[in-house]
Amino acid sequence: MAAECTAGGELMSKVHLIDHPLVQHKMAIVRDVKTGPKEFRELVDEIALLMAYEVTRDIALEAKEVETPMGKASCQMIAGKKVGVIPILRAGLGMVNGIVELIPAAKVGHIGLYRDPESLKPVEYYCKLPPDISERDLIVVDPMLATGGSAVAAIRFIKEKGGRNIKLMVLIAAPEGIAAVQAAHPDVEVFTAAIDEKLDSRGYIVPGLGDAGDRLFGTK
Ligand code: PRP
Ligand code: URA
Repeated sequence: MAAECTAGGELMSKVHLIDHPLVQHKMAIVRDVKTGPKEFRELVDEIALLMAYEVTRDIALEAKEVETPMGKASCQMIAGKKVGVIPILRAGLGMVNGIVELIPAAKVGHIGLYRDPESLKPVEYYCKLPPDISERDLIVVDPMLATGGSAVAAIRFIKEKGGRNIKLMVLIAAPEGIAAVQAAHPDVEVFTAAIDEKLDSRGYIVPGLGDAGDRLFGTK
């Protein structure tokens, strides 16, 4: 189950903290400075898969009758055009496999953004989305929601291209990032495995896990 979140005593109804023990256990290992890129990648994959259960909890179903070896069963299957997964490059790539393993029919779009280290503002360098995004339930994925600049910009691009049903799934969110997404895109639900304390002067989440892209891809 996803827990309800509060900020300053107020309920943040659009923010869901995924507090499942398996997710929390894996998050502890992923945060550990001693965890190397191979294990880091595997864990991010697994956490994304587990989080996808919660993120897709309200997906529309349609009735379907299935012939079993013993008779007819009234079943339910996912209705309509289904799901689109949109990683914010590059670190968001680490969360795609886990989700598409669970939802093989999902289409994957990509948005390339990097955070300018001086201004901390997002700079777009790539955007390729499925043509039918307006008909899909979209999950934007990125391990880190820090200032929120990247997620706010990515969601804006997606909306400009016709995306409507958008959820944001991150591993760690800073309060500043949640506030920025809620202010810019109040319709977007945020799913996170952790809400951390703060940002440092360089816009890194504290305690966070460091630079997600570098840890996934072994750069730096
Ligand atoms: C990281 C992270 C987010 C962004 C979060 O990406 O993966 O996309 O920073 O920060 P924000 O909320 O302040 O925008 P980065 O820009 O380092 O690029 P990378 O994924 O290529 O490493
Ligand atoms: N991007 C990261 O990869 N980590 C942070 O803590 C903040 C932004």
